[in-house]
Amino acid sequence: MTKATDFIPQAYRNNVTEKGSFQWSAPSNIALVKYWGKKENQIPANPSISFTLNNCKTITKLEFELKDNPSENYSFDLFLEGKPKEDFKPKMQKFFERVEVYLPFLKDFHFTISTENTFPHSSGIASSASGMGAMAVNLMSIEKLFNPEMTDDYFWQKASFLARLGSGSACRSIKGSVVVWGENDSIENSSDLYGVEFPEIVHSNFQKYQDTILLVDKGEKVVSSTVGHELMHNHPFAQNRFQQAHENLARMKQILVEGNLDKFVELVESEALTLHAMMMTSMPYFILMKPNTLEIINKIWKFRQQSGLQVCFTLDAGANVHVLYPNKNKEEVLQFIKNELIVYCQNQQYICDEIGNGALQLK
Ligand code: DP6
Repeated sequence: MTKATDFIPQAYRNNVTEKGSFQWSAPSNIALVKYWGKKENQIPANPSISFTLNNCKTITKLEFELKDNPSENYSFDLFLEGKPKEDFKPKMQKFFERVEVYLPFLKDFHFTISTENTFPHSSGIASSASGMGAMAVNLMSIEKLFNPEMTDDYFWQKASFLARLGSGSACRSIKGSVVVWGENDSIENSSDLYGVEFPEIVHSNFQKYQDTILLVDKGEKVVSSTVGHELMHNHPFAQNRFQQAHENLARMKQILVEGNLDKFVELVESEALTLHAMMMTSMPYFILMKPNTLEIINKIWKFRQQSGLQVCFTLDAGANVHVLYPNKNKEEVLQFIKNELIVYCQNQQYICDEIGNGALQLK
């Protein structure tokens, strides 16, 4: 059983080069069983499982240079698509503070962080999972310079551990196509500290599973995820919800192994609506769905009934709809999306994605 303290390195034996750079991409992910509610230090209140995406990713280049005068402050510049991005800095500062004990070299360097997303920014797609994921693997590349003997297992596990400290769901954006985060009885070696690859063979029905993301609303959310998680403290249904997530995770495990798409559809939609039900029953209560979110859901239900195809939706903490469907039905479903759903999207925007594999180092 790995503990948080296992990620505090011994004094480094290597003297690292004075400067250098790494570049990694990390994808977004979409939860099937949702993480909603957390304890201190980014420990999830319940386990979750997600599909890693392939096309929606953040690409981050991390340049590092030994400071002339080591100081007590973190030193970094941050660029989004080539332009200085001051408003991202507090989040990065907080991330550095949280991971400092695990990466004792942070204050020795000046960092230049240059980041870009493959999806339109301000699309309402959370870039925190892919963004923190990409930062975490870059930082692990630097740590590997200090400690070249580090095993691959340690590299990936600690990358996910660090990503979690940036944003919970980011720990599921590091490695694997199906990732489980949060200790539970169904998945051996599952942990609250990092994501693990789903250990069973996933049924071929889920191969190249499609996720078309309908951009319903690109505006600022009325309530951030961080605040939403907070509201699960003292929530009247919290304990039942956390219990249910454990049960749903066990169910999802079986579904993914057996390839039962009818059960998949039912469980995924139920999880999405439960997540939003938690928001609506928080105090203060809030609604992140928009009228067009509901229009789309109803159209999907009608289409599913008429076509018999196993298309379903899921939602994250926002108004956008993820339409999930088997690769073999891609053409028909895309046609349906174009004909009937994109009218509900802002500027008719949508993004075609599918299951991917995780973070990738770029040359
Ligand atoms: C609804 O990971 O964005 O997408 O840990 O506060 O950064 P923080 O929250 P975040 O929460 C995501 C919640 C969700 C469900 C999920 O991805 O499991």
